[in-house]
Amino acid sequence: MAPEQTTEETPTRIPTHIAMIMDGNGRWAAARNLPRLAGHQAGTENLRRVITACVEFGIQYLTIYAFSTENWGRPDDEVQGLMHIVADVIERELDELHRQGVQLRHIGRLEHLDEDLRNKVLHAVELTRDNHRLVLNVAFNYGGRDEIVCAVRQLMKAGYQADEVNEQTISQYLFTADSPDPDLIIRTSGEMRISNFLIWQAAYSEWYFTPTYWPDFDKEELRKALLAFGSRDRRFGRLSNCAQESHAG
Ligand code: IPE
Ligand code: IPE
Ligand code: MG
Repeated sequence: MAPEQTTEETPTRIPTHIAMIMDGNGRWAAARNLPRLAGHQAGTENLRRVITACVEFGIQYLTIYAFSTENWGRPDDEVQGLMHIVADVIERELDELHRQGVQLRHIGRLEHLDEDLRNKVLHAVELTRDNHRLVLNVAFNYGGRDEIVCAVRQLMKAGYQADEVNEQTISQYLFTADSPDPDLIIRTSGEMRISNFLIWQAAYSEWYFTPTYWPDFDKEELRKALLAFGSRDRRFGRLSNCAQESHAG
């Protein structure tokens, strides 16, 4: 079989942590003459499929970018619509996620969110805290720069001296303190930029871009991304034969 005909190949090198920029909901909807919110609805429905696929592939950490600090700049009806969709999805999906052994975590700021949504997020995190099959970090009202600002403030409040601050201490004060850095970051919809996502943690992540809009990104697409990941030579600045898969710094 030619190397590009990888239809049946099963990925063997599975990343511990995948992060996903779920982009293209609006264009998916526009291509169908539907309102943008229909695209967001389809995007959240797709999430269930992708989470199940991640569990099946044995991925331990999944981080999804659901709403950025910059997304507040969208028209009010889209922002409010997104808030409702997220509240609904937590309500509808939480029991099933809990049953699947998914541990939900939130990264970003809960301030400025509607109280009802904030309480739903806190309840979901509390309910699933002892699950260990898959850790799902939901980046909602998240910005990478904002995360670093928060970390620096916390460090200063904790009384750190300048020479006590190093890469590890900063990592420990980020929203992602309890997760390893992502091995693989996937961005759908053909855009090739970071858009303020995990800017610290992505230092040595592998990137995978696909033109597929998020609502159409399925298990087969994920399999292709995993195969691409499996073929990468992660050197972490060293030479192939002495770089470790798990970067120790
Ligand atoms: C990603 O889809 C979802 C969010 C940013 C909330 P978009 O809404 O950015 O979709 P496009 O990029 O306009 O197609
Ligand atoms: C990034 O997508 C944010 C999310 C997917 C939640 P955007 O659509 O907001 O990013 P830009 O504006 O195209 O960079
Ligand atoms: Mg977009």
